[in-house]
Amino acid sequence: MLKIGIILSSTREGRVSPQVGEWVRGLAELRGDASYEVIDLLDYKLPMLGEPGGDASGAQAWSTAIAGCDGFVFIVAEYNHSITGALKNALDYLRDEWNNKAAGIVSYGSVGGARAAEHLRGILGELLVADVRVHPALSIFTDFENGEFKPKDVQVTSVNQMLDELIPWATALKTIR
Ligand SMILES: Cc1cc2nc3c(=O)[nH]c(=O)nc-3n(C[C@H](O)[C@H](O)[C@H](O)COP(=O)(O)O)c2cc1C
Repeated sequence: MLKIGIILSSTREGRVSPQVGEWVRGLAELRGDASYEVIDLLDYKLPMLGEPGGDASGAQAWSTAIAGCDGFVFIVAEYNHSITGALKNALDYLRDEWNNKAAGIVSYGSVGGARAAEHLRGILGELLVADVRVHPALSIFTDFENGEFKPKDVQVTSVNQMLDELIPWATALKTIR
């Protein structure tokens, strides 16, 4: 069975990404087409890449977690019109573990996290990750209420359409690894 990692990209105290990631996982598990697991960057405590004296003890576990996945759903918070520093650092940490896999993006922000999602697409290209077209974009104005995640029904359809694209691409790319 395919394994899809749902990656939480924000690590700050008070973050909303766990609510979004658990919602995606719940919807995905109803499909029965892959095994879906939330991968939380906070659990790996990666120092900045190459930083002298940094505690890189989480790096091996990070490598193992990503190597074990056939595809990914990135839960993307928009910070200053881009992805979080934590996600960029975690992407930079690995290379082969990302290569020839597929990904979907679920983002959120004032304009659905669209600017961060588009930046992420460029980075994924360099890592040989094939990102699918359908992109659930959640609005902090209409899909959240006072920090609590309350997605509109239409977003459920969008997540399923994204996964409808992700699963065949993840399956196909497995054949060339
Ligand atoms: C450092 C920082 C920068 C932000 N920049 C943007 C931004 O450029 N565009 C936007 O729509 N929201 C921005 N926001 C608001 C976030 O979309 C919102 O706080 C969201 O909940 C962040 O995700 P998180 O709770 O998972 O950390 C920013 C938030 C932070 C903390």
